[in-house]
Amino acid sequence: MTEDEPSFDTLALHAGASPDPTTGALLTPIYQSTTYVVEAVGKNKGYTYSRTANPTVTALERRLAALEGAGHCVCFGTGLGATTALALALLQAGDRAVLSDVVYGGTVRLFRQVLSKFGVAADFVDTSDPRALEEALRRPARLLFVETPANPTLKLTDVEIAARLGHAAGAVVVVDNTLHTPVLQRPLDLGADVALHSTTKFIEGHNATLGGALITRSAELQEKLFFLRNAIGAIQSPFNAWLTLQGVKTLPLRSSHNPSWRAGSRRPAAR
Ligand SMILES: Cc1ncc(COP(=O)(O)O)c(C=O)c1O
Repeated sequence: MTEDEPSFDTLALHAGASPDPTTGALLTPIYQSTTYVVEAVGKNKGYTYSRTANPTVTALERRLAALEGAGHCVCFGTGLGATTALALALLQAGDRAVLSDVVYGGTVRLFRQVLSKFGVAADFVDTSDPRALEEALRRPARLLFVETPANPTLKLTDVEIAARLGHAAGAVVVVDNTLHTPVLQRPLDLGADVALHSTTKFIEGHNATLGGALITRSAELQEKLFFLRNAIGAIQSPFNAWLTLQGVKTLPLRSSHNPSWRAGSRRPAAR
């Protein structure tokens, strides 16, 4: 980390937010508006309708992207909304997904009971075992979905190994990083394509909101996800995005008292 680069803690406080240009308000306002005035068809200030995009949600997206060391983030009304949008963006009938054998139960339900109806196959394998994963990836897979640590058993998968094996098989590699958060693990630094969050948990941290986020370094994937989110109507609400912007400020304090544990701090270990 250079002297000029903001620390992880500074990013948690400030990334994505700048004083409101019209009033100077320090906190990003809650833009509680469905619709925006446009100058002409196709000529606007970046916002037209809050199902498509909303400035408060944009601020949260910029902050979460910064914390995961990425350029792109798309926020959703829930974590499962994020998983659903991801699956709809990446998969089609006839595709196969490989998932960790321990993942959040709602993810299992989504793949087994919903996506299966649309011709998407899902195999749940022990991703903590590189040999089992390699074996599972001998058959074509479009998506490798790893959750580590896994809810509820806290089973661990090595993200670097999973990303290498997933990419060799031609799969998009997604890591549900809800439990560790970017304080302790940054999946994109370890080779994954997407970090997924239920921001409902540690990111927001106050049991006040539901939310989800997909974070990536691919502008192309972000575009697909924006399209999907608008098409299915799954965006985060401005109020919940605002609460999450406040909650995430204390994420570094809440997630680790030991700076040497932090994946995102890039500081040398404190002695
Ligand atoms: C690891 C993990 N991923 C995803 C989800 C789904 O998130 P949400 O409840 O925000 O839809 C949860 C919820 O418990 C979870 O624990």
